[in-house]
Amino acid sequence: MFAGKGGVGKTTCSAAAALHCAASGPTLAISTDATPSLSHIFEIADRQKPVQVLPRLHVNEIGEREIREMWDAKFGREVYEVFSAFVDIDYEEFVEFMTSVLPGLGEEFMVDYIRETARRGVYENIVWDTAPLGQTLSLLETPALLGNHLKMAPRIYSRLKLGRRSREPVLDILKRWEELSAENTDFLRKEVDFTMVTIPESLAVEQLEGAFSELDKYGLAVKQIIINNVVKTEESEFLKIKVRQQEQYLKHIYEKYPELKIIELPMFPQEVKGSQKLAEVEKIIFQGGI
Ligand SMILES: Nc1ncnc2c1ncn2[C@@H]1O[C@H](COP(=O)(O)OP(=O)(O)OP(=O)(O)O)[C@@H](O)[C@H]1O
Ligand SMILES: [Mg+2]
Repeated sequence: MFAGKGGVGKTTCSAAAALHCAASGPTLAISTDATPSLSHIFEIADRQKPVQVLPRLHVNEIGEREIREMWDAKFGREVYEVFSAFVDIDYEEFVEFMTSVLPGLGEEFMVDYIRETARRGVYENIVWDTAPLGQTLSLLETPALLGNHLKMAPRIYSRLKLGRRSREPVLDILKRWEELSAENTDFLRKEVDFTMVTIPESLAVEQLEGAFSELDKYGLAVKQIIINNVVKTEESEFLKIKVRQQEQYLKHIYEKYPELKIIELPMFPQEVKGSQKLAEVEKIIFQGGI
């Protein structure tokens, strides 16, 4: 899983990692981006999902439609029955509301989807390109948030029985959701390798600490940091200044995280797109093996 703040190079690193993994076995690169950036970077126009990019590499971009389907399959109807007892809302509107308003719902179902995909064993490697960090972390809070809200009126809710389709009490549904969340968090803890992507700039470095402590709070350990967009040449006055400025942030990251593997990815004059450029990134990231 590649995490980090917006625009630092998560998709670029994920794509390079996917390329690398595909050399050794069947690989799936997956994202919940609203904009299809993985397929953009691999330069594929095919709208099929998952789409095959190389003999052993598939790319799947989970959009709102897929997230709704997952929500629908796991909880949608039951939770809707609870809501519709209080609010006059039709199902379509309700699902739209839940999937767009609840933070992290997409990510939550993404973890679930990845866990199930991993269990099926079709792919040897799954590379997960995440949304900017705040969104990814909020997945861990979603059930608790909803649960706390509902627990404010435990008497009403616990007595409320659902319609004919299911007689499962509301709190049981929530409990089921919390259990699913706990299983997903456990999966994240035990089976997922986290790579934090950042850039050597003030705001990014500042946010890094917050991100680490958030992950730590949930027992999720980061294995390595990729510092992207590092300027490696001083051929002009402009670049000299850039290099000087980046130096202090690089130093800070190395001092702050001495126990982690740190990889510097240079800033290229061109954007990273297409297999040739990606292969270059892959070489740098995996030089010493991941
Ligand atoms: N080392 C690099 N040198 C030059 N350009 C880069 C480098 N890394 C990434 N880029 C470019 O920067 C842009 C943003 O990168 P990318 O899409 O990987 O970031 P992201 O973290 O996935 O963004 P988002 O948070 O929006 O998903 C892209 O156009 C990419 O080609
Ligand atoms: Mg991205």
